[in-house]
Amino acid sequence: MTQDELKDRVAQAALAQVVQGELIGVGTGSTVDRFIDALAASGRRVAGAVSSSERSSARLRGHGITVLEAGAVTRLPVYIDGADEIDPQGCMIKGGGAALTREKIVADLAERFVCIADQSKRVPVLGAFPLPVEVIEMASAQLVRRFAAIGGQAVPRPGVRTDNGHPLLDVHGLRITEPLALETEINQWPGVVTVGLFARQRASLCLLGTPAGVQTLVF
Ligand code: A5P
Repeated sequence: MTQDELKDRVAQAALAQVVQGELIGVGTGSTVDRFIDALAASGRRVAGAVSSSERSSARLRGHGITVLEAGAVTRLPVYIDGADEIDPQGCMIKGGGAALTREKIVADLAERFVCIADQSKRVPVLGAFPLPVEVIEMASAQLVRRFAAIGGQAVPRPGVRTDNGHPLLDVHGLRITEPLALETEINQWPGVVTVGLFARQRASLCLLGTPAGVQTLVF
């Protein structure tokens, strides 16, 4: 079974998490693209969606689903998004698609974060996937030095700006055994817009696509 087929499976399984008639938070990525398509095809009606990227907003609107600004919403029952890595506690690395800041903002509005991922994303310890960090440009060189001081090699992502207009660093070589502590530390560094560690906004549930079926991991 291919990775794409596993993504299709979890996208379908995630439909059961949609609260009909309510708002929904929608993330970004190839797995979420499949979820948006599955939602539209399912006939399940939501009151509207808050999206974490221009890419997802365009896809939602293309299916006739109303997209609301995050500022117009006080609460979402559920946020559905993918991950680049997820650990045994539901902490995640996200931002491979450069949408990490809006993903964290929308996740913060949600009562539950449902992660949808194929089995390749499940890891014992976070860090093999380079940690994305959205930064203010003038701080970039100093942040590269700060990451070097904790054993990370931060590399600017070439040719990419986020939807917020900022550059990204991808930090290689970290072995993240304490995600919450590291997220808290990096959040203190001047010039960091968002670190793609989701420990504060970790998953409550993960639907993991495997060849044997969709596993449900509860955190
Ligand atoms: C987007 O910035 C990311 O956080 C994505 O959620 C993550 O990269 C997963 O993407 P895929 O579903 O394409 O693997």
